[in-house]
Amino acid sequence: MRLNLSLPILFFLLANTAPSDANLFARGTESLAKVHRRAAKRSAGLAKDLRRAFNGMLFQQQLDFSSPQKAYCVPSEGLKSSNGSSGSGSNGTSSSSVDSSPSNSASASPSGSAKQSPTASGSSSASSPSSTSSHSSGSSSSSPWKLFQSYQGETFFDGWDFWNFDDPTHGNVQYVDRNTANSSGLIEINSDGHAIMRVETTGQVSGNRKSVRITTTATYTGALVLLDAVHMPTGCGTWPAFWSNGPNWPAGGEIDIVEGVNDNSNNQATIHTSHGCTIPSSSSSVLKISGNVVGGTNCAAAETGNAGCGMTATQDNTYGVGFNNNGGGVYAMQWVDSGISVWFFPRNSIPSDITSGAPQPSGWGTPMANWPATNCNPSQFFSDHSAIFDTTLCGDWAGNVWNDAGSPGQEQSCAQRTGVSTCADFVQNHGSSFADAYWEVNYVKIYQ
Ligand SMILES: *[C@@H]1O[C@H](CO)[C@@H](O)[C@H](O)[C@H]1NC(C)=O
Ligand SMILES: *[C@@H]1O[C@H](CO)[C@@H](O)[C@H](O)[C@H]1NC(C)=O
Ligand SMILES: *[C@@H]1O[C@H](CO)[C@@H](O)[C@H](O)[C@H]1NC(C)=O
Repeated sequence: MRLNLSLPILFFLLANTAPSDANLFARGTESLAKVHRRAAKRSAGLAKDLRRAFNGMLFQQQLDFSSPQKAYCVPSEGLKSSNGSSGSGSNGTSSSSVDSSPSNSASASPSGSAKQSPTASGSSSASSPSSTSSHSSGSSSSSPWKLFQSYQGETFFDGWDFWNFDDPTHGNVQYVDRNTANSSGLIEINSDGHAIMRVETTGQVSGNRKSVRITTTATYTGALVLLDAVHMPTGCGTWPAFWSNGPNWPAGGEIDIVEGVNDNSNNQATIHTSHGCTIPSSSSSVLKISGNVVGGTNCAAAETGNAGCGMTATQDNTYGVGFNNNGGGVYAMQWVDSGISVWFFPRNSIPSDITSGAPQPSGWGTPMANWPATNCNPSQFFSDHSAIFDTTLCGDWAGNVWNDAGSPGQEQSCAQRTGVSTCADFVQNHGSSFADAYWEVNYVKIYQ
């Protein structure tokens, strides 16, 4: 059930919550729950795009008095031990840890911090789908990464938990379990072997619209995560994301790889952490990124209204309609001792080492986003992540910017574009408008 508290009231409550209480509530809820909201009404003086960085209030679960139990009944199932033995329907083998800093190679000490693989045992048990000879460019003859989990084809959904509780970000969705998702036509493996995740397109719904949110059962600390998608949810009312987080949020950290709302055309990648993580600059050249920093430099959730450190892509094929019209592409998130980086490769320029299954990030060039370890040691702020897909509708970000225009792809507000005055009304009564609100995923691969 959504609470009808206004944002100012929420802020008031948050401001008056002792940190210990807040942590208490956050614990066990945020390990999986995405409290990822844009506090759109914080200040009318903020630039529109800056709003994208304001992920909203931290501890909304505490306000959800209607069902406090849900805070405790899910995460322990979703986040099992991080030692790699939990991945059920998955395949890869674990390997010894390998450092792979984006820039160079052997310099980063194998301190085992951010790059801890589950077991330091087996190595060459043929986990990589391709032989080392098949990739191109490169000085080195093999990838420093070994496949840990692969989600693809008929078994795609086997390694994920289906979240079937209320949306922690207050969207107008009803997340459903796997059987319901399947029988409702929300998930399938299509004839191309791609995994589809839709929202319900029934014309009118009396309450929330059915949708899907899935979380990997396997967890990882340090990884190279690849998402190859040919289509992502888009359109007024939508708020899709591919992201990850760790336990005891924000202690375990959150890494948002693909995210945006409504008709946005430029992706935003964001990290959210506990106290002490910053980025050294908001300058793209200092950070060596192709994207733009959209908020401040403090990534601590509690100190920034959960703004985190967001970076937006400059290309309009990175998200939404532009992404879909171009056949999507590959997002890559590298989490190593030297920092966390996100790249996007449009369909026609995916590096051959990625397609061959022997990824070599050192050759990929400038990432769209980068959070260097200098001011934010990944081993201190990120651990035991699960990857997550969700598509919510309206809610704390998409709903709150329903009347906003001016961000890339959103030259007209959704209120203008649809002629419907509220996001919730649109979701409830215009199901056919959500025909493009689907993920079509070729694969998710997690390397360690
Ligand atoms: C790894 O996970 C398995 C199953 O969850 C558990 O039995 C085992 O004790 C764990 N090992 C370590 C080192 O955590
Ligand atoms: C795991 O890999 C083996 C051998 O590569 C394959 O036969 C099996 O079908 C795979 N299982 C899954 C769930 O992908
Ligand atoms: C959906 O259900 C059918 C029939 O039981 C099954 O064959 C199929 O594998 C299921 N699909 C998914 C994605 O779970």
